[in-house]
Amino acid sequence: SATASLAGLRVLISAGPTYEDIDPVRFIGNRSSGKMGFSIAAAAARRGADVVLVAGPVSLPSPEAVTRINVRSAADMHAAVMAQLPADVYIGAAAVADFTPREASASKIKKRPGSDTLTLELVRTPDILAEVAAHASQRPRLVVGFAAETDNVEGYARGKLDNKRLDMIAANRVGVAGSGFECDDNALSVFWGDGERALGPAAKTELADLLLDLVLERLADTTPA
Ligand code: C5P
Repeated sequence: SATASLAGLRVLISAGPTYEDIDPVRFIGNRSSGKMGFSIAAAAARRGADVVLVAGPVSLPSPEAVTRINVRSAADMHAAVMAQLPADVYIGAAAVADFTPREASASKIKKRPGSDTLTLELVRTPDILAEVAAHASQRPRLVVGFAAETDNVEGYARGKLDNKRLDMIAANRVGVAGSGFECDDNALSVFWGDGERALGPAAKTELADLLLDLVLERLADTTPA
């Protein structure tokens, strides 16, 4: 049920976008609102879990009884998440930048007379989720990822489930009206080893509880009696 207790579980959640600085006034960001991850954090705390929320730059209020760590870049988020292990459950709901400028300019980049182009060199960021799932000594019992897919939702989501060695992945059904980024509602297709479940469309607050029910089910199924 939506009220089954999570007492005794330490749940680590990442949420929101990351900002990758280009210079002192500019950055590369994305449209993640953080609402899904914050809703999961709020619901988990309400149900008695010990919750740490690593939050990218969003203007959302902190959920009650949640330890919140604010970060800006993918590198910051990576360091904060790793420092908060061990945890029983990791839920990677953040929209982490895949690339960051090789070097942020110390001064504001100026337009150059006669030059109509500017080249920024970007380098890959660490895949936080994959690293948590591959952790040699502190792998959480359950590692859950998110995927925003427009097409071939199951194929791409299951690809990430396997490649990143996750226990479960929740794909935003972004095609569905009223779901996804910058929105209070969402619809998820959740996949694990030999199962799947469609959640919603529903308010992100309601989806959070449905997802946590699934987390409890998967923990029960993967924990030796
Ligand atoms: O590979 P893709 O970015 O589509 O995977 C999305 C999932 O991976 C999300 O759970 C996201 O939080 C996580 N991720 C991450 N670190 C990255 C990129 C994605 O933790 N650098």
